[in-house]
Amino acid sequence: MKEKTLREFWTDELKDLYSAENQILKALPKMIKAANSDELRQAFEEHLKQTQGHVQRLDRIFQRAGGNGRGKKCKGMEGVIEEGKEVLEEELTDDTLDAALIGAAQKVEHYEIATYGTARTHAEILGEQQAAELLEETLQEEKETDERLTQIAEEINPQAEEASSGNGEMTKTRRRVTSTRR
Ligand SMILES: [Fe+2]
Repeated sequence: MKEKTLREFWTDELKDLYSAENQILKALPKMIKAANSDELRQAFEEHLKQTQGHVQRLDRIFQRAGGNGRGKKCKGMEGVIEEGKEVLEEELTDDTLDAALIGAAQKVEHYEIATYGTARTHAEILGEQQAAELLEETLQEEKETDERLTQIAEEINPQAEEASSGNGEMTKTRRRVTSTRR
């Protein structure tokens, strides 16, 4: 069997990213719907728009290289998203659900940050400067999203803790639980 070159391996990385971004495009509307905090919903909505841009950047890279993003499924992202979906099926108070959604979204971001970082570095090594720049732009946006999620979590986590220890507004936070236990 012929060994793959770094360039061929890099193309596979890009296809993985293309698949990952398209999986995120499908998952985000569900997360937007589930989010209780306006701030969190807004962060997800903005990231959905950004993600469309990330797919377009990958398209540009493929156009230049004469290929396309199809033909590979990112199994890593599939697993991360699958776990995120489990969160949506649990009975959680509003703030705890938001805290769990943030955790799930940050796993997605960290997976992307790792993969974009590698793909950018390989682009540089291969002399694909324009591709490296496009990948770097997306990498920065993923990092910004991750930081924004951390900031939102800092507000929401104490609220979730308060609600579950009985000091919060129980009527509001119990809504989800009671509605599923008729
Ligand atoms: Fe992305």
